[in-house]
Amino acid sequence: MRRIILIGLVILCKYSAYAQQPLAGFNPYAYTIDKTGTFKQGAVVSAHPLASQAGNLILQQGGNAVDAAIATQLALAVVYPGAGNLGGGGFLVAHLKNGKNIAIDYRETAPDKAGRDMYLDAQGNANTTLSQDGHLAAGIPGTVAGLFASMKYASLPFSKLIEPAILLAEKGFAISEGEAQSLNAHKAKFIRLNTTHPIAFVKAQPWKAGDTLIQKELARTLQLVKAKGAAGFYTGETAHKIVAEMKRGRGIITLDDLKKYKAKERIPVVFNYKGYTIVTMPPPSSGGICLQQMMGMVEQYPLATYGFQSPQAVQLMVEAERRAYADRAEYMGDADFVKVPAAQLVQPAYLKSRMKDFVSAKAGNSEKLKAGQLLPESEETTHLCVVDAAGNAVSVTTTLNGSYGSNVVVGGAGFLLNNEMDDFSIKPGVPNMYGLVGSEANAIAPGKRMLSSMTPTIVLQQQHPILVTGTPGGSTIITSVFQTLLNILEFNLSPEEAVNKPKFHHQWLPDQIDVEKDFPESTIMALEQMGYKVVKRDAIGRTEVIKINTNRTLEAVGDKRGDDSVAGQ
Ligand code: DON
Repeated sequence: MRRIILIGLVILCKYSAYAQQPLAGFNPYAYTIDKTGTFKQGAVVSAHPLASQAGNLILQQGGNAVDAAIATQLALAVVYPGAGNLGGGGFLVAHLKNGKNIAIDYRETAPDKAGRDMYLDAQGNANTTLSQDGHLAAGIPGTVAGLFASMKYASLPFSKLIEPAILLAEKGFAISEGEAQSLNAHKAKFIRLNTTHPIAFVKAQPWKAGDTLIQKELARTLQLVKAKGAAGFYTGETAHKIVAEMKRGRGIITLDDLKKYKAKERIPVVFNYKGYTIVTMPPPSSGGICLQQMMGMVEQYPLATYGFQSPQAVQLMVEAERRAYADRAEYMGDADFVKVPAAQLVQPAYLKSRMKDFVSAKAGNSEKLKAGQLLPESEETTHLCVVDAAGNAVSVTTTLNGSYGSNVVVGGAGFLLNNEMDDFSIKPGVPNMYGLVGSEANAIAPGKRMLSSMTPTIVLQQQHPILVTGTPGGSTIITSVFQTLLNILEFNLSPEEAVNKPKFHHQWLPDQIDVEKDFPESTIMALEQMGYKVVKRDAIGRTEVIKINTNRTLEAVGDKRGDDSVAGQ
């Protein structure tokens, strides 16, 4: 009997040593949130400490920044189910050590059975509940295809990159206070919107910090992807589970939709700002073009002399934001389906003309200010940044759209589906969940990608990366990236201040400036005197930054607004 117990114990010890080996160096049941760190050999910052550590482990095993970004995304799909995902989509922007800039688009697409009026009732009224919650809200997931498209630039085998995620799903990890609150807040929705019991996320007692979240079904899906590659998701068992889920929940995604999904490599938006080269995301994100527009509109003014968060600086930036978002609503959509006048929208002469009616110290008016007349010719989220020792820099924003996406867990497959269909303009002028309006350019069509605001961005100086940044936050993403860049490049803030100082946001409609609660009161009062409506709101974004200093040290910062955490060496 004693012999049997002894053998049993030896096997158990060996097994747990084996099981923990790919996670050597960190403990999924006891971890700290590290907001800042200075590193030499490589740095990762993401929305969850375990995901950042998973990426860092891959760097330690000789992986490059792309390998680490893939491993971090996979780990986020497990440890941050509200936004990390297999059932969503994202964008990767990278500057590679060979000098090449790349952009990979793995945005969701509309199913073949989708149509421009699919969310309108018989009277033509838009039903945003259907575009935001449940099965009909989901686009074809792009993430798994995107990870495999990224493998072109990776150096380690995929089977290695997915190991931490599989272990975290299979063995579980301790959830944070924030995750516990968030899962509890979504319990009713999970129960209402699912066709099978979402075993992993719903339990009888409320979740509390430190509880272990085990996701066996998700682990099985990850194992299939490990064994079969993208086919392990888009065909076979997983695809059948998605389609069965759709049938139970009156969704419209088919096996054919899944089989046809392709991630696409795009030409990044690259532009100059006062000697810096900004590399960012083109359509189907509006982020890159809007960022270029806003930076271009403020470039002609001595912004730095106005001072950080001074009424003068904030007003100028707000008016640039107003104009860029008006153009976004009119002109931007999936450039594979509609003509996005990208070159015209960023012409210096156009941007100059756009600011002609700017009046210092007087609020603009979105009723009067529409999209610009183009000159004749001559698009719950999470962000991560990785920089490696070789000089590769990667910026990824990935999303399910809302928190936990559509809230639908694919029965038996353990992952959440996105509610990205709401990013289309479901009816001209009808605001989506971020208050954004759109037009024909962003109407629904089968196979089309919905317009995004995600803006993964890298700043180069003399061809070398000096800043890697990005954030979630729906419509506020572009303005948060805009501020983060200017906070560092113009106002000389440290990366930590640039990330954590209160942010503001204007998106044309509604015609108001949103500010975080701790935004300086004196600036708010000055803006109100200029005629602006200023509205206080909760956190804007969760920005991540890695700054590469001239001595090659890497300063990584995770936003104070969440569980965001850095790792590195
Ligand atoms: O692609 C977009 O613009 C949105 N689906 C992003 C959503 C988002 O950032 C939610 N996170 N807070």
